[in-house]
Amino acid sequence: MQQLDEGEPKKKVNPYLLFCVSTAAIGSLQFGYNTGVINAPELKLRTFFENVSSERYGQPFSPGSITIVWSFAVAVFSVGGMIGSLSVGVIVNKFGRRKSMLFSNVLALLGGGLMGLSSLCRSFEMIIIGRLIIGVFCGLCTGLTPMYLGEISPTALRGAFGTLHQLGVVVGILVAQIFGLEAALGSDRLWPLLLALTILPALVQSAMLPFCPESPRYLLIVLNEEDEARKALERLRGTDNVNDDIKEMKEEGMKMAMEKKVSIPELFRSPKYRQPIIIAIVLQLSQQLSGINAVFYYSTGIFKTAGVPQPVYATIGAGFVNTVFTVVSLFLVERAGRRTLHLVGLAGMAVSALLMTIFLSLVKTNQVMSYLAIVAVFTFVASFEMGPGPIPWFIVAELFSQGPRPAAMAVSGCSNWTANFLVGLGFPLLEEVCGPFVFIIFFVLLILFFIFTYLRVPETKGRTFDEIEQGFAAKSAPLSAPDSAPMPTT
Ligand code: GLC
Repeated sequence: MQQLDEGEPKKKVNPYLLFCVSTAAIGSLQFGYNTGVINAPELKLRTFFENVSSERYGQPFSPGSITIVWSFAVAVFSVGGMIGSLSVGVIVNKFGRRKSMLFSNVLALLGGGLMGLSSLCRSFEMIIIGRLIIGVFCGLCTGLTPMYLGEISPTALRGAFGTLHQLGVVVGILVAQIFGLEAALGSDRLWPLLLALTILPALVQSAMLPFCPESPRYLLIVLNEEDEARKALERLRGTDNVNDDIKEMKEEGMKMAMEKKVSIPELFRSPKYRQPIIIAIVLQLSQQLSGINAVFYYSTGIFKTAGVPQPVYATIGAGFVNTVFTVVSLFLVERAGRRTLHLVGLAGMAVSALLMTIFLSLVKTNQVMSYLAIVAVFTFVASFEMGPGPIPWFIVAELFSQGPRPAAMAVSGCSNWTANFLVGLGFPLLEEVCGPFVFIIFFVLLILFFIFTYLRVPETKGRTFDEIEQGFAAKSAPLSAPDSAPMPTT
């Protein structure tokens, strides 16, 4: 078994590696930006939809139909996300990781362009189609970025680099929240620019990608180009001594050569993959069904109901807390391990959801409760970023070796987007039915996810892809108990 902490070079970060990691993380930024961007200008956009309808048909939408058209425009993003994330597997194997990232930017230009010109063309349909295309683009980003990051990072830093994906996402959300303010780009005149702004990072990333190498794992294991892989690794590691990495990849490649290509149905049929794919899916569901996007899509409304005087600023506050705790997680993830942080995060979210329910239900009796509710939302978000935010995105790349990895990323990414869609569409309705008790639903789900993680999720920190896979293979038959389930931590 390969020792990971031996030899310093394994942990070395060099400027070139950071350049490549940052280039890839622009994809994460795009996902965050487009997740957050639609909220602030909601009223402006609804008015635009109404005006277009009046100009064209001589009358505005009826109150019922504008809500339907608007929800559709919001939710179509996640539908695109499902399509994009499912396509990841096929695309990366055909074009490689780097070219796939490059090509996907065409979608950002197209989607951003359509939305940016919608006002000029007096067409709300262009916003809907633009959101769909941007959704496909973001679905691809949520697969491509974690995969590339996972494949170029040294084993000892894989968690920290994986968390950079989430850091990109949260910074993107925060930027969208701030740019969306009336005084910035969220005004009647400038909202098309706000929606089209996604074009800029796409251009920047396209200019940077040619300077990044293709993933050495892809070069060696899929294309069998050892020289190229070695060259890429030498640049990424900043040393000529990359024999350990090459050896580890070769071992993985040899195993892969012995198994045939893994398709999506096979992931579920083969006992070898069934356990890790279930874990990957449930972790993704735990991220979305924790209710996090109920906050990120609807926090302004939640704060308003709670009687907060300036709800928009409380929302931006949530964006700040979100960013700060992602950075905290970045430093903790290689120390505390993924499993522990995920458990701590889920527990913190469950307690916060309970407190939120109590405070929200007492808001009418005491004004202080609305401030306590803000604190509970902040601890909810902070706990999320300790584990459930970053970990599911990168642990999938860790649970599978090169063969099944693309298919596994596609399946788990699509589960994430589907759950995202359900929460986005369902939360307003649930809130109407349950009132201040709506977060009880998430409380119950969080407890269930905590139990699952405790019983089934192994620690992957500091282990090579191959060791992780062997851990599953060793007990692929029955699912085992908690203290035998987690693979030994380093
Ligand atoms: C994660 C989720 C995303 C959510 C974000 C909040 O990246 O996938 O849906 O909006 O975290 O920080």
